[in-house]
Amino acid sequence: MTKKILVISGSDRQGSFNTQLSNLFVKSFGEKGYESALLDYNDVPLLSQNNEYPTVEAVINLRNTVKLYDAFVFVSPEYNGSYPARLKNLIDWLSRPESQEGTQELTVINGKKATVASAANSTYGKFVRKNLNELLAYTRMNPMDHEGLGIRIPVEAWGTGDLVLDSEQQQNFDEFIASFISYIEEKLN
Ligand SMILES: Cc1cc2nc3c(=O)[nH]c(=O)nc-3n(C[C@H](O)[C@H](O)[C@H](O)COP(=O)(O)O)c2cc1C
Repeated sequence: MTKKILVISGSDRQGSFNTQLSNLFVKSFGEKGYESALLDYNDVPLLSQNNEYPTVEAVINLRNTVKLYDAFVFVSPEYNGSYPARLKNLIDWLSRPESQEGTQELTVINGKKATVASAANSTYGKFVRKNLNELLAYTRMNPMDHEGLGIRIPVEAWGTGDLVLDSEQQQNFDEFIASFISYIEEKLN
């Protein structure tokens, strides 16, 4: 059966470059015959162990959506060398069992394949990509053994607001997509 790929942007900024990059992923996966969508998680509250159980509806809905997908691409801005709090909050929610009696193996992301990408400034998001890959492994996802796709936001993009990939970035993007597709089609032991 065709695999489904969920793309998650770490930014809720209006006109976010990472959300634009996320949409390029969704489009490209679609063109390659995969079902793909961008996750909307603006209604997910800040996790507190005081409100974990019973679980709020927004998080139940989030987990039900995540269950439908086989693979995940996290596309995140770099905030002070790491991921934004909203993305950590989302992953924290997903890393917890659905019921209070559940074990860590019973989360909706356990064992799922994933990878990371970032549109950032001069670092190409290398710090957020490294930290995010480590976080995904920590939460028992199966991140691809790859440093992730780093896109340097072109200077002109800050004027126009549009993220347009140059030919080298487009080639990196296409190669990265190809690597991820072979990874998700590969059987893990
Ligand atoms: C709190 C904060 C910290 C930031 N730290 C970094 C950083 O460490 N490296 C970097 O390349 N950009 C950093 N930036 C700039 C963001 O990468 C930039 O605003 C980018 O456009 C955000 O992505 P977005 O367009 O998807 O929202 C930071 C921005 C904020 C708000």
